[in-house]
Amino acid sequence: MKTEKLKINFPTEIVEEGEVKVLVPKLSAFVKKSWEYAPSKAPVFYNPVMELNRDIAVLAMQAYQRTLNRQITICEPLAGCGIRGIRFAREVENIKKVLVNDINEKAYQLAKYNVEFNKLGKRITVKNEDANLLLARHGAPHKRFDAIDVDPFGSPTPFLDSAIRAIRDGGLLALTATDMAPLCGVHPKACIRKYGGKPLRTEYCHELAVRLLAGCLAITAARHEIGVKTVFSHSTDHYVRVYATLQTGAEKADESLKQMGYILHCFNCFHREALKGDSILGHNGKCIECGSKMSLAGPLWLGRLSDREFCEAMEAEAKRVNLKNSAKINRILTLVKEESDAPITYYILDKICDKLSLTVPSLKRICNLLKREGFQAFLTHFSFKGLKTNAPATALANLLQRVACET
Ligand SMILES: C[S@@+](CC[C@H](N)C(=O)[O-])C[C@H]1O[C@@H](n2cnc3c(N)ncnc32)[C@H](O)[C@@H]1O
Ligand SMILES: [Zn+2]
Repeated sequence: MKTEKLKINFPTEIVEEGEVKVLVPKLSAFVKKSWEYAPSKAPVFYNPVMELNRDIAVLAMQAYQRTLNRQITICEPLAGCGIRGIRFAREVENIKKVLVNDINEKAYQLAKYNVEFNKLGKRITVKNEDANLLLARHGAPHKRFDAIDVDPFGSPTPFLDSAIRAIRDGGLLALTATDMAPLCGVHPKACIRKYGGKPLRTEYCHELAVRLLAGCLAITAARHEIGVKTVFSHSTDHYVRVYATLQTGAEKADESLKQMGYILHCFNCFHREALKGDSILGHNGKCIECGSKMSLAGPLWLGRLSDREFCEAMEAEAKRVNLKNSAKINRILTLVKEESDAPITYYILDKICDKLSLTVPSLKRICNLLKREGFQAFLTHFSFKGLKTNAPATALANLLQRVACET
């Protein structure tokens, strides 16, 4: 297929990612200043930084396909140049069909070209319409997809209802959110509007972002009498991702809603509490450690953010394939797996040490000391300076003071 015939009349180049080669906008041709965000300047969206996001999506789709042990259908309703859907079709085994769609005519043309370029015309269908319209037309039981990957600009919430309706019972829904300013509490009103939960500008705001997105999914799914199980989630660079399987049934929806609640945070002593259901009603809003007034985040998802078995299945897939980013991916998969059982929220030692005017000790040392004192301690993928523990904030602060005195 000729690019002229497809009206691709802007600068392009071929890039290689995973096992595919695709034609993408030549980003350097669309920026005048070095600080400009090239992907959004180009006529078709393509972001090379999201390669890791797509790598992990391929691993998750493969891990999910193996749980079914049959051919699966995948929909990517906001596809840009098509690179993600094309990778699913080429790199995930047992794909029956991938439906790739974008509302932008140029993106559609480019995705169509890329499908032919990769000789995947039989496995991929390319569409050019509004994502909600497309998903709504796949809401009938026999038309639903096994998996849907919603990867938009900003928030995925405008597409949640229709994506939930277009997934079959037990299907996998993957969501990206890049609107970190609302989710991390810089624009709290926007977060409440979009996700129905209040964010908080804390050192663990990236975990809150994932929990707000997962919570919004659980509440939206519950309206359709569907329950959710978050099997994998991560926060990387400038975005968060949630992968959840959906189970039909009012009881399943009720079970998910039991995982909703609030997090109370003390900005004075770093103490925090996670309160499921309506247990918040019995709280007087004061910190039990220092008596200060606490701040509130939520409602948000307080259940597990990932499933250990699913993480192990993704790790097995990562070993099988040869990805450019394998070192980074393996580190994320291991940390996410380990922290699937960890307490909610994390501490940043630098922040506590800064407040107490202490030098920052090694994270590993503090983890070992906490464990020796009978507490749980986990590293976290959310921050390389972060630590998850069930030790109260004051116990952690005391430990840091003792360590500082010894050194
Ligand atoms: C972040 S980009 C997608 C990137 C792609 N998923 C990837 O992995 O490279 C978001 C895309 O959504 C498309 N889009 C925005 N609103 C849409 C809508 N209502 N329906 C369909 N596509 C839409 C944009 O044209 C853009 O190409
Ligand atoms: Zn306090």
